[in-house]
Amino acid sequence: MNARAVVLAAGKGTRMKSARPKVLHELCGRPMLWWVLEALNAAGVDDVIVVTNPELDPLLAPLGVRTVIQDEQLGTGHAVKIALEALEPRDGSVIVAYGDMPLVDRTIFADVQAALDFDAATALALVTARMPLPSSFGRIVRASILPSFRSATATADESSTEPALDAGSVERIVEAKDCTPAQLAIDEMNAGIYAFGEAALRAIVPRIGNDNAQREYYLTDAVELLIAAGRRVVPVPVADYRSVLGVNDRVELASAGAILNRRLCEEHMRAGVTIQDPATTYLEPGVLIGRDTVIEHGTQLSGATAIGAGCTIGPNCRIANARIGDDVRITESVVLDSAVGAGTRIGPYAHLRGGASLGANVRIGNFVEIKKSDLADDVKANHLAYIGDATVGERTNYGAGAITCNYDGKRKNRTQIGSDVFIGTNNSLVAPLSIGDGAMTGASAVVIRDVPAGDKQVGNPARSIAKKPAQT
Ligand code: UD1
Ligand code: CA
Repeated sequence: MNARAVVLAAGKGTRMKSARPKVLHELCGRPMLWWVLEALNAAGVDDVIVVTNPELDPLLAPLGVRTVIQDEQLGTGHAVKIALEALEPRDGSVIVAYGDMPLVDRTIFADVQAALDFDAATALALVTARMPLPSSFGRIVRASILPSFRSATATADESSTEPALDAGSVERIVEAKDCTPAQLAIDEMNAGIYAFGEAALRAIVPRIGNDNAQREYYLTDAVELLIAAGRRVVPVPVADYRSVLGVNDRVELASAGAILNRRLCEEHMRAGVTIQDPATTYLEPGVLIGRDTVIEHGTQLSGATAIGAGCTIGPNCRIANARIGDDVRITESVVLDSAVGAGTRIGPYAHLRGGASLGANVRIGNFVEIKKSDLADDVKANHLAYIGDATVGERTNYGAGAITCNYDGKRKNRTQIGSDVFIGTNNSLVAPLSIGDGAMTGASAVVIRDVPAGDKQVGNPARSIAKKPAQT
């Protein structure tokens, strides 16, 4: 799309009652402003400038977007003036949107741009929305639908310089705080999304004044000024007002977050994922879920998480930055920054974190914590255990209550456990430590020295009770 965009985000957002700038409050794991930029990007608008304030500006670096600082917030018209001063004049169009409307989608930007492009006489296309009253949005005042009313009030002089307005066309926008009671009853609102011809916008912005209830320079006054200059202004009604709802306080933040979350859930459901209860399933953009996976209630999937096909996740799981293979079952557990192989079963009440990597068909049961450890295929740790900084070989059984003592007060040390090992219940495995393939340790062993392959050890400190000396 051949347009540039100005996004206004310099307002103080006082109704949030927050130390954090409003547009950085998050919905589905992304700042409010990110959603607006994402919709513009999806509409093909890549030349974007954000109007910020001195506190917000340094915090926007992670979004990698061009910014210009509006030192004093004198109104949306003033904010656009600041943006235009920072932009090289060009013969094209400028989309203006507000940073506090995270529900906008790509099609709204495409539609408003198309309405501007439709006719060279049009200087401004603006998105309007019918919504339930009361509302704090600016009201769209349209020319009287009775042409006779207009001619009765106009002079008989045919050469009147008053611009010709078709009945029903947009006449001006009145901010809620400036409305008469009759205007407040209008249920068509200014969404706050505009496509301007750039030359017309540059000509009109310096003429916007601040003679209104809030003593602000209202961008919305551009409508009346353009019409007075004989230019055409066209409304672009949006199908669903919910896609242009602004977020001004934390109640609206939660409502908008729920709508975005619902949209994410619906995308996955349409792609073949069963989501038992979208109202209690929390997703973020970019999360991948395979077909025929079932997400049960109370589950949150976030970050760079990819879940395979045919899994059942939930209820009540929290999974972030995790790669989960096919046919995995995770119940009431937390999996962070970890990888899980196909067919593995986890939970209830397990905790994987900090680079746990599990092979295929592993069994991790109740109250087991795994950190920075690699578990090979078919390992079992079914009850009450800690595995930290360890590698565990295939088919090894890790007993209830066994702990890798990986921290000696100064350093984290590694534990290496071979294949087909049996670690008894309540073992303390004091790292650094290596336990060879096929070894066994008895209940309550405190293992402080390496255990050779095939050896059998018991006690505190653990010692060999093997009949034959173990091979080393
Ligand atoms: C604005 C519109 C209103 C519309 C509503 C839709 C105006 C005058 N009014 O009202 O018609 O119905 O949005 O949500 O435009 N901002 C700046 N600099 C400023 C002032 C504001 O960058 O000096 C930014 C704010 O950060 C915000 C956006 O502009 O993102 C809109 O400002 P806000 O004060 O929220 O306007 P509304 O009263 O919601
Ligand atoms: Ca607003």
